[in-house]
Amino acid sequence: MWDWSHSQESGPLLIKNVHVSAADGLVDVLMDDGLIAKIGPSLTSVNHVIDAEGALMVPALVDPHVHMDAVLTEGFPEPNRSGTLLEGIERWSQRKAYLTEEDIISRAEEGIRWHIGHGVLKIRSHVDVCDPNLTALKALIKVREKIRPWVTLQLVAFPQDGVYCFPDGPELMEEAMRLGADVVGGIPHYEWTREDGIRNVELAFSLAEKYGKPIDIHCDETDDEHSRFLETVANLTRLYQMAGKVTASHTTAMGSYNDAYAFKLIRILSKAGVNIVANPLDNVVLQGRFDTYPKRRGMTRVKELMTAGVTVAAGHDSIMDPWYPLGTASQLFVASMLAHVGQLTGVEELHWAFDSITGAGAKVMELPAYGISEGSRADVALFDVPTTTDAIRLIPRPHFVIANGMLVAKTPVATTEVWWEQEPKAVSYLRPESNL
Ligand code: FE2
Repeated sequence: MWDWSHSQESGPLLIKNVHVSAADGLVDVLMDDGLIAKIGPSLTSVNHVIDAEGALMVPALVDPHVHMDAVLTEGFPEPNRSGTLLEGIERWSQRKAYLTEEDIISRAEEGIRWHIGHGVLKIRSHVDVCDPNLTALKALIKVREKIRPWVTLQLVAFPQDGVYCFPDGPELMEEAMRLGADVVGGIPHYEWTREDGIRNVELAFSLAEKYGKPIDIHCDETDDEHSRFLETVANLTRLYQMAGKVTASHTTAMGSYNDAYAFKLIRILSKAGVNIVANPLDNVVLQGRFDTYPKRRGMTRVKELMTAGVTVAAGHDSIMDPWYPLGTASQLFVASMLAHVGQLTGVEELHWAFDSITGAGAKVMELPAYGISEGSRADVALFDVPTTTDAIRLIPRPHFVIANGMLVAKTPVATTEVWWEQEPKAVSYLRPESNL
């Protein structure tokens, strides 16, 4: 049995024998007072020591887009038999009738345990505020405060059923911000008219200004090439001088725009400083459902946006909910899907895929002191792989997860032996040394 005695105790923690980059040799990392105090070879021992045995240390993974109020609701009261977005919305409406504070808290806490087990300690959750009682938001605010010492949980006021096509929609958005939502959301493409879609975006910016909060809008999550609210998001980001504080999520319609329009749009997104979050797991299965063949991939133009210098992060979006019955909260699985659907398999591009669940996600969430350096927050994951690309390829759970300088999760390293000759041989799934 693992000795958890030092997991909840304060005091310095020394992690011995880690790689902080694939190229460098082994070092020790000393953590104290929630920060990385020192990185170097053979540091002096302290009371609490973990021998990482050569694992790769990376900053805590980031999930910049998930719906924690819906996690683990798949199948009740009815499963999504078609697997479509529209039936998912129908099933969620049915499920909403059963929402209670206890139900939301217990599912969200379990979902956060899944995240932590995968080394994800930074989570931005959209929360459906199309509810006169705002039950989900109130419940998740309690969860946010409870887990604050270990996990950063940002809550977005998200109008799932629209603002202007939902009774008291604007008032519920304002009430959500008053209650303590961290981020203003939106869903312009879901309004009944283009005009109301524009008003939906405008409301987000006026609330953001009033409450001094960032913005994260579900924007153009459709295959309709005429859904063009992202240009309004870019323009208002410029006018409100909110570069770096505005995120547009999904933006799948960009996969259907003509190239001339997409070129213009990517240019103004880059100039305005709008961040993009792609959600490849949900969108690769939910989009393209009206297509026969060729069938669209259902993802925004990740590679072109990254090449233009736009911050592009990737979210899990759903974990076993009415829209996506799969998922484990593994952000490495998300990065793998991003690499596949976005064709990010060039050597440098695979680094971009890893950045989408680490550095770029941290920029979207505006996380201070994020990274592996002296003075950074002591929020890290230790993977038993030599490189981040191997992490994306193998999708392991981290051997150790450290939050705020404390051990919060441990997974034994899996080993496989294959036996058809006289002696069994251990299989590492790593490239042969002759290829290094
Ligand atoms: Fe979403």
